[in-house]
Amino acid sequence: KTVNDTQATPVRTLPDAQTVTTVRHWTDRLFSFRVTRPQSLRFRSGEFVMIGLLDDRGKPLLRAYSIASPSWDEELEFYSIKVPDGPLTSRLQHIQPGDQIILRPKPVGTLVLDALLPGKRLWFLATGTGIAPFASLMRDPETYEKYDQVVMMHTCRTVAELDYGRQLVESLKDDPLIGELVGDKLKYYPTTTREEFSQMGRITDNLTSGKVFDDLGIAPMDRERDRAMVCGSLAFNHDVKAVLESFGLREGANSDPQEYVVEKAFVGDGI
Ligand code: FAD
Ligand code: A2P
Repeated sequence: KTVNDTQATPVRTLPDAQTVTTVRHWTDRLFSFRVTRPQSLRFRSGEFVMIGLLDDRGKPLLRAYSIASPSWDEELEFYSIKVPDGPLTSRLQHIQPGDQIILRPKPVGTLVLDALLPGKRLWFLATGTGIAPFASLMRDPETYEKYDQVVMMHTCRTVAELDYGRQLVESLKDDPLIGELVGDKLKYYPTTTREEFSQMGRITDNLTSGKVFDDLGIAPMDRERDRAMVCGSLAFNHDVKAVLESFGLREGANSDPQEYVVEKAFVGDGI
């Protein structure tokens, strides 16, 4: 093996190659990057695509990734975990501007505004990298055209793991394209569970106890007003669903819009 084995393999010969434009490392477990966008790619904010690299034998090694940028952005952004011995991310974490990745331009997913019945208040509930689809939806004008209020709850174990989401939310105020539209409609409620922080606790607990409603000074959830989108680990999704159902919300899909929709942030128990 040479040093280059740990680098992203160039995929210039593939039709689905896109070029990396920026890479930012947030922690030793998290990074984000932007790539060129295929001219023909249309997607709905919240959807995911398959991206990857060539493996050692020259075969595409692809994984599902939420598009973290909004549909109007001329580039595509992704927010990624680094799994130490993960087949894709052990290599993907080494990409540099100018490298190429494979991107299959077939966006799909349930976390889209069309999968919800009209409502007044929209909740984005995420743990870990599950914030990625909401990084897209929080930057989409349609979100604020359709809802009077948007609440982003994001929970991670540590404070540093919240940074990507926190900086994104902070940047929205000054965004020339949607800053005015967002105004004070977006309420951000980040919490940690394993490191001291100004707000703490699991999303499920903060909803069930009513703490988040008290802290934000807003009314509790109900079926008439509230819509929700959920993205986290299997265990998180499972437990949040029960909480949302207790408030009377029902799970929907593209083909059957209801009051909430769910997507896995990843498959497995997490690292
Ligand atoms: P894998 O063999 O795919 O995973 C190894 C193990 O690592 C998994 O079994 C799991 O225990 C853990 N793991 C994998 N991904 C994560 C994660 N994101 N957070 C915590 N633990 C994890 N990943 C992203 O980083 N960003 C995304 O936007 C994203 N969107 C996804 C959307 C969908 C619909 C699905 C199904 C998955 C998504 N994933 C996302 C997970 C992604 O597809 C890969 O699993 C991840 O990139 C790791 O790939 P790998 O080959 O290195 O390891
Ligand atoms: P906790 O630290 O109490 O387990 P993970 O890294 O395990 O995927 O967790 C990411 C975040 O999601 C952590 O803050 C974790 O809290 C929280 N979490 C994990 N499982 C659940 C669950 N079933 N319900 C609510 N929150 C969860």
